[in-house]
Amino acid sequence: MSRLSHHTPSPPLLSQLAVGDAALAARLERDLRLTAEALRRYVTDAAPADVAEVVLYLFADAAKRLRPLLVLLGAEFGTDRPGADRSGAEAPTAGRRDIIDAAVVAEMIHVASLYHDDVIDQATTRRGSASANARWGNANAVRAGNWLLAKAAWISAGLGLTAVSLHAEAAEALVSGQLVELLGPEEDAASISHYLTVAAGKSATLISTSLRLGAILAGAPEAAVAAVGDYGTHLGIAFQISDDLLDVTGDPTRLGKEPGKDLALGVASLPILLALADRGPSAEEFRALLGQPSLRRHALTLLRRSDAMDAARTMLEERLVRARSALAALPRSPSRTVLDALCDVVARRDH
Ligand code: FPP
Ligand code: MG
Repeated sequence: MSRLSHHTPSPPLLSQLAVGDAALAARLERDLRLTAEALRRYVTDAAPADVAEVVLYLFADAAKRLRPLLVLLGAEFGTDRPGADRSGAEAPTAGRRDIIDAAVVAEMIHVASLYHDDVIDQATTRRGSASANARWGNANAVRAGNWLLAKAAWISAGLGLTAVSLHAEAAEALVSGQLVELLGPEEDAASISHYLTVAAGKSATLISTSLRLGAILAGAPEAAVAAVGDYGTHLGIAFQISDDLLDVTGDPTRLGKEPGKDLALGVASLPILLALADRGPSAEEFRALLGQPSLRRHALTLLRRSDAMDAARTMLEERLVRARSALAALPRSPSRTVLDALCDVVARRDH
């Protein structure tokens, strides 16, 4: 994938988490690698080379893989834990192979939604590189997304009814999140609760189902499945809010895109909604600038200085508090510590 010259790729998520427990770190690293290999094999075994090239295009960024990591971390709370292999050296057990397949499914659904999203948004870039639609056209990008969704459904079917049902829950949430976003709030006063509904559908549900599926496949008790699911819901919403904040304050070389994209595209991000809901004089000025493309830089400067940014940061912190408190229902363990550290990563994200 050829990178845009100004974009600095981010370090792998696992290294940002600084997993303190060596056995857990080795296991996660091994299984993320096995997930990437399995995913690539599923595609290359079933698709002709030119189709495979488009389908695999968005998987090239090794820094991501949040959802597979969450499947693996969810599995750590099971009784049928990741095999006897604690060194990370031996081959994974059959149960572990299912968990790796679940990680593949989570990543396939996520990436399928990105192929479709970039067509809908007419995006020209994704993660600092040309988007698939910009490179191969809309039809090929949609086909790649469809291929991934269909393959993910087959793999889920091999994992059993629970996996199929969680897969369906995630796909339905993604699609209805997009539709609810398109329809907009019923009234202006409901804009923040509408935003949260959209964020739950587009971001949080797949994050929550990834954790739950890993936990269920590993035989975790019901209370642990519920706890990782709740944690995922709050983390997912926090993740979306941090995305919105980055769009206002982010460094283009780290982000791989120019800040202010939400303003330019008329996206109802949380800081923008909070600024619009404010009744102060600078909010008035902000509102007046919104429809004027030539004054967008000024609108972004005003937004950066507005109280809306602090209010959005507070909402982000509140979500992270809720995510962390969901973790309290889980036994203390190195994997619980990693989930906690993930909240820190979201809190200090710069890309
Ligand atoms: C990114 O949002 C978009 C999503 C997270 C999900 C989009 C969902 C669909 C297109 C429905 C289709 C779903 C499936 C399962 C194929 P964004 O545009 O706000 O953020 P961006 O800056 O990453 O584009
Ligand atoms: Mg988009």
